Amino acid sequence: AISWPGLIEAYRPYLPVTDQTPVVTLHEGNTPLIPVPAIAEQIGRQVRVFVKYDGLNPTGSFKDRGMTLAISKAKEAGAKAVICASTGNTSAAAAAYARRGGMRAFVLIPEGYVALGKLAQALLYGAEVLAIQGNFDRALEIVREMAETHPVTLVNSVNPYRLEGQKTAAFEIVDVLGNAPDWLCIPVGNAGNISAYWMGFCQYHQEGRCDRLPQMMGFQAAGAAPLISGVPVEHPETLATAIRIGNPANWEKAIAVKDASQGAFNPVTDEEILEAYRLLASQEGVFCEPASAASVAGMLKVKDQIPTGATVVCVLTGNGLKDPDSAIKHSANQFKQGIAPDLTAVAQAMGF
Ligand code: F0G
Repeated sequence: AISWPGLIEAYRPYLPVTDQTPVVTLHEGNTPLIPVPAIAEQIGRQVRVFVKYDGLNPTGSFKDRGMTLAISKAKEAGAKAVICASTGNTSAAAAAYARRGGMRAFVLIPEGYVALGKLAQALLYGAEVLAIQGNFDRALEIVREMAETHPVTLVNSVNPYRLEGQKTAAFEIVDVLGNAPDWLCIPVGNAGNISAYWMGFCQYHQEGRCDRLPQMMGFQAAGAAPLISGVPVEHPETLATAIRIGNPANWEKAIAVKDASQGAFNPVTDEEILEAYRLLASQEGVFCEPASAASVAGMLKVKDQIPTGATVVCVLTGNGLKDPDSAIKHSANQFKQGIAPDLTAVAQAMGF
């Protein structure tokens, strides 16, 4: 092959596509599984830890995996427009793939709670962006109704093709490790991705591509943790805006995944998220967005439960560049400004 063909071609036999399906792709997928030894060391026992860096997808998040399939199938069905509610990443991915496929993209976002990079992407890709004075959960209710009453195809993760595409991340992990990990740690918002990963692991297991299944460890921001409290959160709050969700659409699916995999859901505070966010960047050189760091924050929070000798994969769902405001605001390092443009002043500022 001249290059990675994108995940529909790479995993065609495992996906609901036919020769008639027009493949809309940006050659997404094939993202690296990166060892994170400094983080593994914090566990204090012999454990292998990797991050699945899905922020390296074409629009910078795992949403591209779901969107290549959802948009290809929408195009196959003759759709002229798609719609989604989004905390940002879905809107960027929907916009890029829909426009590439020749469709209009309508995106509803919670006004004031979408990271700058994501908004910039949606606008430049050519989405029709509608900011509502309500949160993600309300936006999702509206687009669901809109898709039932108007000629627009819904591409949120209630669209089954989204999860079919996203399950390929589990395939890639098994393809690299030669088996499923013992633990899969993942941030949970609308709970689509955890459900998709589980589908992928189960499908590969049935095909004999791995001989075990991981325990699925889901982590929610403490201020937006309905799967832990068991009741919807009316006013979800977290600085990890990507997972600022109070009533996940895939609620029942996620509970079933947790139970079937003998996994668990745990909350992580914003402070714990930021700690992991800084650690990943400053100790491992891996820049993810705050919501993604919830997987590593969570793993470290429950590290005493990790079996010795285990292999753990933490999913990093989005690129750090998505949210430059958070990076600048929460970096441990301040940058020095107002330095005279000469050698002496710079040397002095360097501490020499
Ligand atoms: N991490 C990031 C960076 C996300 O953008 C999302 C969801 C999640 C984790 C959670 O995944 O919803 O499948 O449980 N973002 C959606 C959006 C809601 O609109 O971009 P989930």
